[in-house]
Amino acid sequence: MSWDEAFAHRYDEWAAAMTEDIPFYVGLALEADGPLVELAVGNGRVAVPVARATGQRVLGIDISPAMLAQARAKAAEAGVELDLREGDMRDLSLEEPAALVYCPFRALLHLPTWADRRRVFERVAASLLPGGRFAWNAFAFDHAIAARLDGRHDDDPVPHTLRYAVGDNRIDITLDGGGTSSLWWATKNEWLGLVDVAGLEVESLHGGFAAEPFTDESREYVFVARRP
Ligand SMILES: C[S@@+](CC[C@H](N)C(=O)[O-])C[C@H]1O[C@@H](n2cnc3c(N)ncnc32)[C@H](O)[C@@H]1O
Repeated sequence: MSWDEAFAHRYDEWAAAMTEDIPFYVGLALEADGPLVELAVGNGRVAVPVARATGQRVLGIDISPAMLAQARAKAAEAGVELDLREGDMRDLSLEEPAALVYCPFRALLHLPTWADRRRVFERVAASLLPGGRFAWNAFAFDHAIAARLDGRHDDDPVPHTLRYAVGDNRIDITLDGGGTSSLWWATKNEWLGLVDVAGLEVESLHGGFAAEPFTDESREYVFVARRP
């Protein structure tokens, strides 16, 4: 199980510290000339500010009914329009090609295999307008961090325990109250391979949301790819 509904109930607390990505995705949306799509839209944490800043209806796809219910409530509260659809991003199919598809907060890492990701990248490429962009971010695996955190219990931001399954490039996050969600990390070359097989081009790779250069020390991949 890559996403456990138990996380939905604590998601606002879980994601409270993650705010620096919002101006980044909002900036891309403001530059987009056409439909906007968020993969794994969750509770609308990013889609609501994107819709507010652009005045556009954002199409959001997510597999979790509980997260979508929260997104619906947040959109109503903010007075913005989201087109929320329950579905698996591996089955992405749009009626109208998009100018921007984006996937924040490492959500592509919920896909267990390279083949799952290839499928998403190919579907994204097929769903973009010529010149349309695909943007996402994901953490870069760090063995020192893994050694420090493996097996550790932390009360922050909500009580949980992390387990690193290095042989399967997987992190399991288990909440104290029950519920385990997993993330499968990917290397830079895996991301570049996905861009390549999907027929996209890398427009930029940064090490953070403020356009920090990507270096050996970077711990986040912030990618923007483009359909030629
Ligand atoms: C970390 S949350 C990100 C939510 C939101 N994008 C944000 O930035 O706050 C991960 C989301 O991925 C969704 N998810 C996991 N696997 C999925 C899949 N195969 N297709 C669509 N959504 C998926 C989960 O339901 C969850 O809402």
